[in-house]
Amino acid sequence: RRPARIGICGLGTVGSGTVNVMARNGEEIAARCGRPVEIVQIGARRDNPACDTSALNISREIFDVAANPDVDILVELIGGTTVARELVLTAIRNGKHIVTANKALIAEHGNELFAAAAKKGVTIAYEAAVAGGIPIIKSLREGLVGNRIEWLAGIINGTGNYILTEMREKGRTFDGALGQAQELGYAEADPTFDVEGIDAAHKLVIMASLSFAIPLAFDRVYTEGISGITSEDIRYADELGYRIKHLGIGRRTEQGVELRVHPTLIPESRLIANVNGVMNAILVNGDAVGPTLYYGAGAGDEATASAVIADIVDVARTLESAPDQRVPVSGVAEGGQNGGDVLPM
Ligand code: HSE
Repeated sequence: RRPARIGICGLGTVGSGTVNVMARNGEEIAARCGRPVEIVQIGARRDNPACDTSALNISREIFDVAANPDVDILVELIGGTTVARELVLTAIRNGKHIVTANKALIAEHGNELFAAAAKKGVTIAYEAAVAGGIPIIKSLREGLVGNRIEWLAGIINGTGNYILTEMREKGRTFDGALGQAQELGYAEADPTFDVEGIDAAHKLVIMASLSFAIPLAFDRVYTEGISGITSEDIRYADELGYRIKHLGIGRRTEQGVELRVHPTLIPESRLIANVNGVMNAILVNGDAVGPTLYYGAGAGDEATASAVIADIVDVARTLESAPDQRVPVSGVAEGGQNGGDVLPM
């Protein structure tokens, strides 16, 4: 079969991780895909010494990738919502499938983007937008498809969990731990998103949309971060046998779906209380399967690249398929709005 031709926009932490993993595992990826996967263009304002792009076609203008007739799949890794939205809409108009790691984009503009993609008959895949390398989107959309999901709760911001862990285990300051998370490439470009719960809220609405078959409802999430947590809070919690963890929680109620992110006290004997560092973990409770737990690296270059490539392979496998034969992307399209309304905060 002809190669799947991808264009990558953005060469930051996730972009360079994707280039590196594609180069290292290219043969296995092609075999699993049933066709070669070629990076035909990269759009990036500057090079990144973390990856070797000397043999690749680089443009300094990312919109070149959206216009390139040789690109089948545009991989959006620039982050942000303004230019990213324009880029993705332009690529969709040009008939390209989209793979994105951009949770802000999906959470805030996903309803619009999914509609544009459906109209054009292309796919938007966003596994990497939630919980880094954990295949949680696939699990919610496919693995648990036979369940009525009652609730989910998860540690879904790696930076925040890293900060809380470093403060507790190493007695570090909040700012010191945050600085290190930034150096390690875990934090968002604007780390306020991590420490004020906005990044977790983005991820929660994406999971909730698939879990409860509701539209993306970012403006309905009660959002509180970890910036008010002190070393004393952590010490007192310890003395009482608890860990402070920042959770995203989505729950079906009689009245509708409740969505919230905030710090919580979790008894130290619980598995999720012992999820430390950049690791994320998500508990999902389905009526048939009962509680399930998904654990893994929630941020970082290659962990997130793992999810980006999973999406590339999914889309590449079905390049010639009719749209209704591809994996559905939106919870609402799958089953109507069966979670009812989303409750106000
Ligand atoms: N800043 C995010 C985090 C990156 O720390 O979890 C992964 O989405």
